[in-house]
Amino acid sequence: MKQVSLFLITLNALFISCSTPSRDSAFIDNLMSRMTLEEKIGQLNLPSGGDIQTGTVFGAELDSLILEGKIGGFFNVKGVDEISRLQHLAVERGPHGIPLLVGADVIHGYETIFPIPLALSCSWDTTAIERMAQISAMEATADGINWNFSPMVDICRDPRWGRIAEGSGEDPYLGSMMAVAYVKGYQGEDLSADSTLLACVKHFALYGAAEGGRDYRPVDMSDVTMYNYYLPPFKAAVEAGCASLMTSFNLINGTHATADGKLINGLLRTGWHFNGLVVSDYNSFPDIAAMGTSKIEDAATLALEAGTDMDMVSGLYLKNLKNAVDKGLISEKIIDKACRRVLEAKQRLGLFDNPYQYCNPDRAKTGIFNTENRQAAREIAAETFVLLKNDNHVLPLRKTDKIAVIGPLADAANNMVGCWSMHAQTDKHNSLLEALKGAVGADGRILYARGCNIYDDETMQLNATGLRCIPFEHDTRQLEQEALYIAAKADVIVAAMGESSDMSGESASRADISIPAPQRRLLEKLKETGKPIVLLLFTGRPLVLDWESRNLDAILNVWFGGSEAADAISDVIFGTKIPQGKLTTSLPLHQGQIPIHYNRLPSSRPDPQAGVFNRYQSNYIDVDNEPLYPFGFGLSYTTFAYGKPTLSSTVLQENGCIDATVNVTNTGDYDGYEIVQLYIRDPVAQIARPIKELKDFARVFIRKGETATVHFSITDDKLKYYDANLKYDYEPGEFIVMIGSDSRNVQELSFRAE
Ligand code: BGC
Repeated sequence: MKQVSLFLITLNALFISCSTPSRDSAFIDNLMSRMTLEEKIGQLNLPSGGDIQTGTVFGAELDSLILEGKIGGFFNVKGVDEISRLQHLAVERGPHGIPLLVGADVIHGYETIFPIPLALSCSWDTTAIERMAQISAMEATADGINWNFSPMVDICRDPRWGRIAEGSGEDPYLGSMMAVAYVKGYQGEDLSADSTLLACVKHFALYGAAEGGRDYRPVDMSDVTMYNYYLPPFKAAVEAGCASLMTSFNLINGTHATADGKLINGLLRTGWHFNGLVVSDYNSFPDIAAMGTSKIEDAATLALEAGTDMDMVSGLYLKNLKNAVDKGLISEKIIDKACRRVLEAKQRLGLFDNPYQYCNPDRAKTGIFNTENRQAAREIAAETFVLLKNDNHVLPLRKTDKIAVIGPLADAANNMVGCWSMHAQTDKHNSLLEALKGAVGADGRILYARGCNIYDDETMQLNATGLRCIPFEHDTRQLEQEALYIAAKADVIVAAMGESSDMSGESASRADISIPAPQRRLLEKLKETGKPIVLLLFTGRPLVLDWESRNLDAILNVWFGGSEAADAISDVIFGTKIPQGKLTTSLPLHQGQIPIHYNRLPSSRPDPQAGVFNRYQSNYIDVDNEPLYPFGFGLSYTTFAYGKPTLSSTVLQENGCIDATVNVTNTGDYDGYEIVQLYIRDPVAQIARPIKELKDFARVFIRKGETATVHFSITDDKLKYYDANLKYDYEPGEFIVMIGSDSRNVQELSFRAE
């Protein structure tokens, strides 16, 4: 028996090494010519090997799928040793020795955790995002992974949606820039190198617009909205060479995204020339039936015909495709196409040349969660915090201040990392309290009290804090008294409050997006002490902060900053670093304003002044139209003064360029970064165009007292949009340019485009 298997190992190895060169398309032709229909269908199957959710297959089952050639890859298996064992099994004993794709959700870091993507986008720093993606790829590939289910590029205008945490906010231009940075970072220059992996842009498409901000809900959207606002980041990722794409869970105008041939085979493959791999989302195939668009037995053929190559988890390709071919319901050629794309992805990774290149235990020992990566995460995290308010320069704090650190998130190291950070080593990094104590040293005066629960309701708290459990305390009176006692003794209160890690991400929608009740009540009590209060706001989504903005002295939105967040926060609140992030979503004044976004269409009845209600105008009786903090907003410890912008010409010739220039002076006491933003409005067009759209930005470092001259090039591609016939162009006429520090605070100029 032993001899037989040894013989098989040699045979498989021979097939790989003796056939046509593995980088050649003839190599795949040759390989496929030897595969049975069942084996080709096997390549389309992607089970989950872990125990994260339902639909999992376990150890022995994964082994037999591999040996029987019923699997193209797997995901949710952690650890280079186990992954290496499975890869060896496939190559040495599986039919034709075909290596496996090994997927994972490395959304904002692997073991070194970076800020959640929404926070990362607030850095507006594409270089930092590329660096974080590179480090994530280095760590993940060191542990055996070769396919990353990231970036998520869903545009979102509804902060109730928990998955807003995973994307880059509400703007298609910024979202596109970020999408490209992620893809470049993950895939690098050479996808076949051992430290790069396949990126997977998701969720195609429109998932960010799911009804009511609830996961898995339908989307009904016009083509022009889809093309102008929701699809651009996907297109940008595809143009950047993203190797794979994941379909979404939602219905799009009545068709399930995974069975939407118009979008997948039509727009994506024919329109955008995407030649990579398309995978469904987790167990999506049965959803096609559950959402009423097919019978369960037809779901697989519908998905395949639409262009979905791989089935994540459901097993329905395995179960139904052979039968469908035998009955003449689909042609084997479609299966061939999908199988070829799976094999091509493996080829691009260099797996046929060296199937074990991602299985190097030495790299895993030194390349993961090391000092260098953690330092990068700390630096990047500091760039993502957004200072929303800072009255009387309460921040930065002095290390000699007596500081009362209060709140359920102050000493919760496991809650710094945010959603999708299952491999975080939360026992190895600091909590906020530990970082602050470390920063002030032995002479420092840091007092601490937890103060309150996250929620009043124990069940709700335990559900909301889930994996990263924050235990519920029953003696809430005692908690409050401790907090008030230390507050009374302190010079300043630092309140670490907001959401727990698991209150955003998948399946974490909230109907009420304010700071939960017990935390707000405690803030109200702390306010009565008369001490200055700094709110360090932990959150995975924009929150409604009306009361907080009126009653607290400073608000620093720190999101979920990852494994090094605590030290990064300490750097910023003590002034070693200065805040520089700007919002990439509007922060509503009231949740009734949702959906909310700055690039809205004009109204025939212009918005009334703040605080005024005018009947028969487009306003609420009870709340202003404007968000509390607009898109692009963020303060610094220093201040910037903008000069009057100028244009090099007031006429833009076809294929020409206008230079827009503005001087920005650092008028404060710190050197710092400013994010200068350029918006454009097309006041008269074939279809209504937004009141402003971000078209460029510059992140500039300006020393105190110095002035930087910022240049933007306005070319006609900045004016183009998809019209009612989905033609991408612009019409000659007047355009308005706006330059400023955020989407509200701008200066206007105009030019004519020929
Ligand atoms: C999520 C995807 C994720 C997949 C695999 C799904 O529930 O929607 O974003 O990549 O699971 O973990």
